[in-house]
Amino acid sequence: MRRLILIIVMGLPIIFWQCSTAPDLPEVDVVPRPMQVETDTGYFEVTPETEILFERGNTDVRAVAEYLADLIQPATGFSLSMRPISGFFAGKNVIILTTKDSGPARGTEGYALQVDSNVVIIRALSATGIFYGVQTLRQLLPIEIEQKSLVQDVHWTIPAVTIADHPRFKWRGMHLDVGRHFFPVSFIKKYIDVMALYKLNTFHWHLTEDQGWRIEIKKYPRLTSVGSKRAESQGDGIPHAGYYTQDEVRDVVAYAASRFVTVVPEIEMPGHSKAALAAYPELSCTGGPFDVETRWGVHSDVYCAGSEKTFEFMENVLLEVMDLFPGEVIHIGGDECPKARWEKCPKCQQRIADESLANEHELQSYFITRIEKFVNSHGRNIIGWDEILEGGLAPNAAVMSWRGMQGGIEAANAGHNVVMAPTSFCYFDYYQAKSGEPKAIGGYLPLEKVYSFEPVPAEIAPEKEHFIIGAQANLWSEYIPTPEHAEYMLLPRMCALAEVVWSPKELRYWPDFKNRMEIQYQRLTELGLNFRVPTPEN
Ligand code: ACM
Ligand code: ZN
Repeated sequence: MRRLILIIVMGLPIIFWQCSTAPDLPEVDVVPRPMQVETDTGYFEVTPETEILFERGNTDVRAVAEYLADLIQPATGFSLSMRPISGFFAGKNVIILTTKDSGPARGTEGYALQVDSNVVIIRALSATGIFYGVQTLRQLLPIEIEQKSLVQDVHWTIPAVTIADHPRFKWRGMHLDVGRHFFPVSFIKKYIDVMALYKLNTFHWHLTEDQGWRIEIKKYPRLTSVGSKRAESQGDGIPHAGYYTQDEVRDVVAYAASRFVTVVPEIEMPGHSKAALAAYPELSCTGGPFDVETRWGVHSDVYCAGSEKTFEFMENVLLEVMDLFPGEVIHIGGDECPKARWEKCPKCQQRIADESLANEHELQSYFITRIEKFVNSHGRNIIGWDEILEGGLAPNAAVMSWRGMQGGIEAANAGHNVVMAPTSFCYFDYYQAKSGEPKAIGGYLPLEKVYSFEPVPAEIAPEKEHFIIGAQANLWSEYIPTPEHAEYMLLPRMCALAEVVWSPKELRYWPDFKNRMEIQYQRLTELGLNFRVPTPEN
């Protein structure tokens, strides 16, 4: 892009063209950056008389219209009237939401937004797209719109603009480890709300760990009565407990759906299973007894892969889980499973012999493939951490590449779906700055580095690129005991990730993102979120 620059040197004005690598950038403060933006003069003003007109007969669009009205009400004090319309409508002082005549909107999540002094029109092929158009509209309003009580003396204006936008990736994920520390439903919903604001759509809920089992399973009550409690974290002497009832899980899933967020539950196997083994030691190789872990790390006791009891248990748990989570994908973990117990266990060794497996890695592959068959037979697919490649990848499994990009490259080249989540760009439990930060797990991941992440590496053949379905950031919580602390680790890095997974690669430009974030910091403040304020260094 070329930019006209004016500088004054010794009292004389000098004008020149400056070339830079910056893409042609519009003047809108929206994160993630929309694909195509044209700005115009003038504005639309939301007043008490503004009407929201939504497509007649489409209950999903009606729900988004209600969401928009609810978004606008607290700060403005306006209870906007809502009316169904058939066909297209040229009016004044109206906000139109429709999937009829979708115009330039593309894909199931794309939208087209047009604002002039008379109307706001959001068009899309689906209610999902309309919802994302609403999020963009929200960011074009004065930031006071985020306040939860009446704000006086604000003109609720939206600049005249024409936007056509759709996401680069379909899996735009954020993860939360509730195993190390439990987070209440109120925080989970707040998390989902911020995700929706930044057009993220997949919430990976890491529900079981060595340090805690957090989801009620009716058939196995000890998972929560025993497995959800631990004596302390890292020697702090403070007992910690908590779990979600099935009603709470249903409530979270429905809440997320209303924000077009899919919840992907993770039930870890065969490793990271100490809390379950504390509850049901007969599922281990040695028979226990065990305590729920008090320290993070990789622990030797895992589910016995030779015992049929283990598979009966896993299948019963998964049946309840699949009943609670309607999404297509179930995360089965698969990472960091030491093989020491399997090497010594007669049942595991018998399984290796019976199934003609070469070693314990193939036994892990047997475990995952067997679980995959079960999950597939119920119409769902599995995703697992990249260790599931070892010993042979289950036929339909997707891979979440966390130990770098290599696992993802291998899986995509073999024709498997991949979500990129390498530690080096996507582990938000890492430090955000080199000093002055609260104790973290280690690592260093400043905002700019997250922003520089490219989920599709050059090693993937062009015809295989579509197997990279997206990326996500992970938040492991051993050192994150409170929601406020979690928010601090997530924000603003989550905004950078949102732009990585939504915006076209060629339009990502760090200085521009930094500028657009200024208003986001005000927005996050209005929303009552705790976040790290970047310094000039990072
Ligand atoms: C992981 O961080 N162990 C997936
Ligand atoms: Zn065993």
